[in-house]
Amino acid sequence: MEIKKSLTTYDLKTGTLSGEETSHAAKRLSDVAGIFGDQAVAAAMDPNTIVYEVDSHMAVQEGTPGGLFFGTSRIHPGKVGNEYFMTKGHFHSRRETAEYYWGISGTGVLLLMDETGNAWSEQVEPGSLHYIGGHIAHRLVNTGEEDLIVGACWPSDAGHDYGSIERSGFPIRVVCRDGKAVLEENKA
Ligand code: F6R
Ligand code: MN
Repeated sequence: MEIKKSLTTYDLKTGTLSGEETSHAAKRLSDVAGIFGDQAVAAAMDPNTIVYEVDSHMAVQEGTPGGLFFGTSRIHPGKVGNEYFMTKGHFHSRRETAEYYWGISGTGVLLLMDETGNAWSEQVEPGSLHYIGGHIAHRLVNTGEEDLIVGACWPSDAGHDYGSIERSGFPIRVVCRDGKAVLEENKA
């Protein structure tokens, strides 16, 4: 019997996934403009600007109980006004499902929020490990000048609920003041 080579590769330095069962998606400003606080500034920017990209390895169908998905999120550096580029953020549709994130390169913030709207944050940097428990919404923010690259692993039946975040957002925004990343109350 021969030892089979894996049909998928994972670049440990960049998180890039290639080979079988992998896919790539890009989120442009036109897809996510609504998440930013300053809508006038967002509307004046190039809608084709890529805000973040996601590589995924999905070996089973979405919704399969007992399986796992694996991914790499790459949030580009940039701001809408003073607010750093970030992901849409979501709860999992199956609220009890958890997820691991880990920092690969770049620096940023993981915004977390429970179902009562109580929010907190963790610094993301190379080697940082983040356990996101069930019932916790999560969003990545790039506060640096290079790509923020973050690995992720989550259950294949977790699903994504973006609607709750689109409706009420996070109570915290990560903005640049005097060249430094700070947390501010979301006044919207
Ligand atoms: C999967 C997960 C990540 C995000 C990715 C993009 O459950 O949390 O892979 O999907 O960081 O962010 P969203 O999905 O919020 O656009
Ligand atoms: Mn998730």
